[in-house]
Amino acid sequence: MSRKKRILSGMRPTGKLHLGNYVGALENWVKLQGEYDNFHLIADYHVLTTQTDTSQILENTLEMVADWIACGIDPDQSPVFRQSQIKEHAELHLLFSMLVTTARLERNPTLKEQAKDLNMDSLIYGHLGYPVLQSADILLYKGEVVPVGEDQAPHVEITREIARKFNTLYGEVFPIPQTKLAVIPRLPGLDGAKMSKSLNNTILVADSPDEVQQKVMRAITDPQKIRRNDPGHPEVCNVFTYHKQFNAQEVPQIEADCKSGVLGCVDCKKNCAKKISDTFAPYADKRNHLINHKSELLDIIADGEKRAGKVARETMEAVREVMKLG
Ligand code: TRP
Repeated sequence: MSRKKRILSGMRPTGKLHLGNYVGALENWVKLQGEYDNFHLIADYHVLTTQTDTSQILENTLEMVADWIACGIDPDQSPVFRQSQIKEHAELHLLFSMLVTTARLERNPTLKEQAKDLNMDSLIYGHLGYPVLQSADILLYKGEVVPVGEDQAPHVEITREIARKFNTLYGEVFPIPQTKLAVIPRLPGLDGAKMSKSLNNTILVADSPDEVQQKVMRAITDPQKIRRNDPGHPEVCNVFTYHKQFNAQEVPQIEADCKSGVLGCVDCKKNCAKKISDTFAPYADKRNHLINHKSELLDIIADGEKRAGKVARETMEAVREVMKLG
């Protein structure tokens, strides 16, 4: 029997997940679980690239992990662990930081976009190294497949370059990982920009049906469809993108009826909100249970850290050996 390929993917713990996190990454992690050997990282060090306040990190971690597990990550199969609890991340990050130029890191489009979104006029040294830490995350577990949203692809590209460089200089230790994008790799927010907590345009996995409906009602649709019977342009409508993701079956009908003017935005939005809520309704009980039993979550994470730590130490031993740092 051939060995399963290893998946390594993670998210920064910023609290409850939104649909962009779900569609871009989590849904894919769950789908691929079983076919691959999944490892899921809580990128709590990466949070520090854009904020110094650490008071909410643990709480946000628990909220995020509750969503992961409620949506189908099985922690018995797939270890879930914090970067900050496995010291090898810091160690490998340092070694990798010698294998990439600052010019290469400054060209990173995701970094440029983040700097713009957050109005940053100068860059923290550790933030420039964001993808170097991410490379350590992936390669410490010899991740071969990295299912992430589109914005993360440049980081995996840097990871590939670092892995090749390391292997050439010191010996074949690392696989060359591949990005795996979701079908809709970038779900728009209610306003059409990227869905993001800091832009206040999200729908959350944990939102109640009423909250989902209220939010979808304020989503921006086709600006040229003003009256109910005006012919619409689904290709520019955010709600139509949500239908594609959460209501695939009705998409041809909705497209035709929007274009002909038979379907108005209010009815279309109500239908869409219902389909979104229906998708997540089965996960609510599990999520609530976990959030009310935080010790279960902490046990799951501690167990993941034990299993991940073992893999990380083995990789670092191999790294030290080929680098003659014994
Ligand atoms: N940068 C990723 C994000 O913001 C989180 C992350 C950190 C990650 N390390 C990773 C994703 C390793 C995949 C693999 O979503």
